[in-house]
Amino acid sequence: MARLKTGVLISGSGTNLQTLIDATSDPAHPAEIALVISNKPDAGGLERARKAGIPTRVISHGDFSGREDFDAALDTALREAGCELVCLAGFMRILTGGFVEGWRGRMVNIHPSLLPSFRGLDAQGQALRAGVRLAGATVHFVVPEMDAGPIVVQGAVPVLDGDDTAALTARILTVEHRIYPLALKLIAGGRVHIEGDRCIITDAPKNPDGRLLAPDDSD
Ligand code: GRF
Repeated sequence: MARLKTGVLISGSGTNLQTLIDATSDPAHPAEIALVISNKPDAGGLERARKAGIPTRVISHGDFSGREDFDAALDTALREAGCELVCLAGFMRILTGGFVEGWRGRMVNIHPSLLPSFRGLDAQGQALRAGVRLAGATVHFVVPEMDAGPIVVQGAVPVLDGDDTAALTARILTVEHRIYPLALKLIAGGRVHIEGDRCIITDAPKNPDGRLLAPDDSD
């Protein structure tokens, strides 16, 4: 069966990209990464893609007169590579409404909070300041509103007393690295259907007794 051609947009170190590369290196995975685009020439994720033999493009936002032109270049590159799905993985540019509409239902993002809590920048710091006991990450379809859109997968981690932003960020990243490959597998496998503001997942693995308490009650 043809694998879903996926474009990944990055700006930074690309640890999430790496988990997608690792997962899709299995020929049985229903997705393949057809192109990695960075808006920054020095993004560490570019090297990860090159090492895996995946085509890369640098499209620097500074080379364009406005956001429309920049997004048009992204769009052209993705379409030329035959991409059918876009994964935003630490891509630090706000996309125009036109671009988002053009990829509606075919573009996902990962955000380091349990949405709809803590949208925007420094989600981990926002969680610490709010004093929540559970934090986490969300993979969601992208809609014009920032950090909103139908949720595909979420993963939770505890917030521990004494955590600083770095510690919580690192713990959340461990769950990001589980949920992004999972979300890609579910979407590319045709198991995710958007109904209104929600995702319905066919044959979703269930763990109805799974509970995550923070603090835990195991003492
Ligand atoms: C992750 O925390 C992701 O949730 C956010 O940007 C960060 C990217 O990290 N959108 P990496 O480049 O994948 O390591």
